[in-house]
Amino acid sequence: MRTATARAHPNIALVKYWGKADEELILPVAGSMSMTLDAFATTTTVTLDPEADEDSFVLNGSPATGTALARTTRFLDHVRELAGSRERAHVDSMNEAPTAAGLASSASGFAALALAASRAFGLALDERALSRLARRGSGSACRSVVDRYAVWHAGTDDETSYAEQIDAPDLRLVIVTVDGAQKAVSSREGMRRTAATSPFYDAWITSTARTLEEMVRACAAGDPTRIGEITESHALRMHAVIASSEPPVRYLAPASVAVFDTAAALRAQGVFAHTTADAGPNVCVLTTPADAERVAEAVSAHGSVRIVGPGPGAHLVDETV
Ligand code: PMV
Repeated sequence: MRTATARAHPNIALVKYWGKADEELILPVAGSMSMTLDAFATTTTVTLDPEADEDSFVLNGSPATGTALARTTRFLDHVRELAGSRERAHVDSMNEAPTAAGLASSASGFAALALAASRAFGLALDERALSRLARRGSGSACRSVVDRYAVWHAGTDDETSYAEQIDAPDLRLVIVTVDGAQKAVSSREGMRRTAATSPFYDAWITSTARTLEEMVRACAAGDPTRIGEITESHALRMHAVIASSEPPVRYLAPASVAVFDTAAALRAQGVFAHTTADAGPNVCVLTTPADAERVAEAVSAHGSVRIVGPGPGAHLVDETV
C-alpha cells in the first residue's frame, strides 16, 4: 500500500498576504514574505486506498466531516489530476499547535498534505512545484514548504505564483496568545470583504508590492532593524485596511494592542522588538536571539508566551511505495 508521512511548520508573515487576484487558483494581489517556524508542526500521513470510493480525513484523532473534509478532498483532487490517478486516500493529520494559539494551522496542514499526498500518489515534485500545489490548499501554505525565510512571488498564473527561500538575519518571534480571544472572521471571508468594500484596497495592493521590494533589500543587506520596522508598519497597514471594510472587521483585541505598546516601550529602552499580528487577536513580537527572553518576560502580562525561531520547510518523514 502506498503511504507517505510528511511534516511542516506554520509560518508568520513579516510582509502580509491579504487579498486574492484569483479565488480559484489562489493567486494573491501582491507578494509576501515570512519566517517558517521551528515549532508547532503538523505531521500528516496519506495512504492510498484502492478499495475506498471516498477520501477520509482524521484530524487530531477525530474523523473530520463537513468543510474540513470537503477542503481536503478538493485538494486531493488537484493531486489526483497531477498524478493521473482516480484512487481515494486516507489522510491522518496531527497538529502540535494548541488551537487557541491561533497559528495558521492551515499553512502547516496544507504544506504537509501537499508533500505527503504528492509522494503517496507517486509524484516527485521539486520545491517550486510543491509550493504551487500547497498554495491551492491555503495561500500562505506555499510559504511553509520553504526553509527559514520565504518570499511568495505573487505571479500572474499558476506557474508563476510560488514561494522560494531568501536569506535573512537570524531572528526570533515571541508568540503571545492573548487572553479573551473572540472568534475571528475567517481570512477567506475577511479578504473578500476588504476587497469588496474598503476604499483603501487599491493603495494596500500597490503599497504592499513596494513594501515587499523594500523588505527583500533589507534582508539582502542583513539589516534587522529595517526588517523589524517594515514588519510592524506593514502589519498595522493590513489591520487598517481590514478595519476599513464594511461591515468592519477588527481582529486586534485590547490585549493585542497592549503588546504593540509594550514592544514600543521596550524599543525606547534599546531592546529589539517589532510587533505583527495575523487575522486574530494573537500577536508576535519580532526580536533578536539576545533580546528574546527580555521581550518574552515583558509581554507575558498580556498572555502566554513562546519563543520560536526559523525552522525547516516541509519534509518527508517516511514513505512506503
Ligand atoms: O492563507 P490564509 O488564507 O490562511 O491567509 C493568511 C492571511 C494572514 O495570515 C493574515 C497573512 C499571511 O500572509 O499569512
